[in-house]
Amino acid sequence: MLRVGVLVSGGGTNLQAILDAVDHGDITNAEISVVISNNPGAYALERARKHGIRAVCISPKQFPARDAFNQAFLAKIDEYDLDLIVLAGFLVMIPAAMTEKYKGRIINIHPSLIPSFCGKGFYGLKVHDAVLARGVKVTGATVHFVDAGTDTGPIILQKAVKVKDGDTSKELQRRVMEKAEWKILPEAINLIANDKITVTDGIVSLK
Ligand code: GAR
Repeated sequence: MLRVGVLVSGGGTNLQAILDAVDHGDITNAEISVVISNNPGAYALERARKHGIRAVCISPKQFPARDAFNQAFLAKIDEYDLDLIVLAGFLVMIPAAMTEKYKGRIINIHPSLIPSFCGKGFYGLKVHDAVLARGVKVTGATVHFVDAGTDTGPIILQKAVKVKDGDTSKELQRRVMEKAEWKILPEAINLIANDKITVTDGIVSLK
């Protein structure tokens, strides 16, 4: 049974999709061991508690400097003996020591088709603002492994979503979540939990 930790910062709709997928048997061989947030007010923590899952907060604001937070954060993660760490709308930079230690065991959901509209400064609604400003007609979401860069790790799954004339960034965000994120994130976890993925030279393929 894969021990999964989910890291969240906000509403937690992706977390909810994961919890539902476990309940419905769409994710097998995995249990959500802990949900961790940097934000004490994150509704995602409430979703975890309602589900009987341990919900933990650790915020950079509790520490005098970033280094101290990074150390404590990694120590906290280590406590749970996790096989897989899922960044589900987690908006804190992952410390280098953690990407190193958990290489190949951290995945992230990003709300665009990487390598478009990703990297530093591209998160949440800002991604969809940029998509609309550029006028692309297709966007989507990507699940990828996390490496030392920002949104640069091996791509596991992607799903395209149409941009409609007159979309607001909120409407587009919702469509990308419903049609792509909430599907491919649980699917990727299920693939990993059932040992269906190999990575060779930075390229993911299905076994
Ligand atoms: C999601 O759209 C996720 O893709 C995005 O934050 C949102 C979290 O929503 N993540 C990023 O932008 C990471 N670069 P949620 O809390 O409802 O799951």
